[in-house]
Amino acid sequence: MNVVVVGAGAMGSILAGHLVRAGHAVTLLERGERARYLKERGITISGVADFTARCTVLTDAGPLSRTDLLIVTVKTYQSEAALASVAHLEPGAVLSLQNGVLKNEQLARVFGPEKVLGAVALLSGELLPHGEVRFTMNECLHLGELPEGVSERVKRVVAAFNQAGIHAAAAPGIQTIEWSKFVGWVAYVALSVLTRLETHKFLSDPDTALIGVRIMKETAAIADRLGIPLEDNAVFPVKTIASVSEGRAVEIWHEAGKAMATLAPAHRVSALQDLERGTHLEVEETLGYVLSKAAAEGVSAPTLETCYRLIRDWIGSWAEHRRRLCYSCRRAVTGSTAEARRAGIQMASIATVPSTSGTSTNVTGSSSLP
Ligand SMILES: NC(=O)c1ccc[n+]([C@@H]2O[C@H](COP(=O)([O-])OP(=O)(O)OC[C@H]3O[C@@H](n4cnc5c(N)ncnc54)[C@H](OP(=O)(O)O)[C@@H]3O)[C@@H](O)[C@H]2O)c1
Repeated sequence: MNVVVVGAGAMGSILAGHLVRAGHAVTLLERGERARYLKERGITISGVADFTARCTVLTDAGPLSRTDLLIVTVKTYQSEAALASVAHLEPGAVLSLQNGVLKNEQLARVFGPEKVLGAVALLSGELLPHGEVRFTMNECLHLGELPEGVSERVKRVVAAFNQAGIHAAAAPGIQTIEWSKFVGWVAYVALSVLTRLETHKFLSDPDTALIGVRIMKETAAIADRLGIPLEDNAVFPVKTIASVSEGRAVEIWHEAGKAMATLAPAHRVSALQDLERGTHLEVEETLGYVLSKAAAEGVSAPTLETCYRLIRDWIGSWAEHRRRLCYSCRRAVTGSTAEARRAGIQMASIATVPSTSGTSTNVTGSSSLP
């Protein structure tokens, strides 16, 4: 199979590396330092699998034309620019591993709806600072025709991934799987970013659980208005949450919190890790997208809207706080630990968070901040 992968960070490298190792003709489109690294050293994977694979790495898609499969693995906020750079390609099929459901609309606008496959990646990985990618979970890559159905091309792509070592399955109802994951994901992102708590804590706290339940119910109501059935999944029983009373749904959150406290007490949602790393959050394309759908469909989503606005403004407040702390920071950096303490700054916790403009800003992550 001839495959083009756009964006060779964590997910792009994992998929491309496995397909290359299995003998497929893969071209990676990357940029900057990452592209240089991949050209010199190849794709190095560790964790679930350990190997290095080499393939063609381009920084410009100009020479490419036809491909059997185009895989998009840039972040959602990078999609428009990335898709513009490959809009001239003629793919047999195109899919995106991005979180959320906006991705399919974006792909359809560029390549036509008939080319787009639905995809849900229950896979995870992390691009490490020295360039290697740690492959941390290989549960299942669900693929299917949109809104539903399993075609020959889906079967071919699924078989190629399975032969390459990526667990994949053909999904007769991929839109349901995408939205069911999304309904849970929206609530997790909002709660994790707003509270900055480990997952089991915001699942177990009565107030945060109630907020999470309301977000899930509001997002599920939008899916219902769009005619998309939901299902209970491994991450969360979203169909059940949507149909039971608020009180019962909160109990389900508490049960999930107890299980998480035992199984993975240190688990933090990836959006929270992104925030703490100073990475731009995929908020507009996910929470913002749900709200735009709610407005278009006339569905009320007050809890989601409040959380969305808090997250947007909260991130801005960090940047603003940094500007106010700038003078104290400079004194702390040049002065003594005692001066730093007097300034209320923990030196080891200087971190980077994104501003609302999308640029990254260094701020202190001390507990004295909001
Ligand atoms: N990582 C996971 O465990 C995981 C799991 C499931 C789903 N996802 C979803 O999958 C998507 C990708 O996640 P990720 O963690 O793999 O992201 P990532 O590590 O940030 O990788 C994205 C890569 O794409 C590159 N890129 C951006 N714009 C480009 C362009 N125009 N042309 C070429 N390359 C470009 C980025 O380069 P720069 O660094 O220069 O921007 C980066 O190397 C996200 O939507 C994420 O939510 C991730």
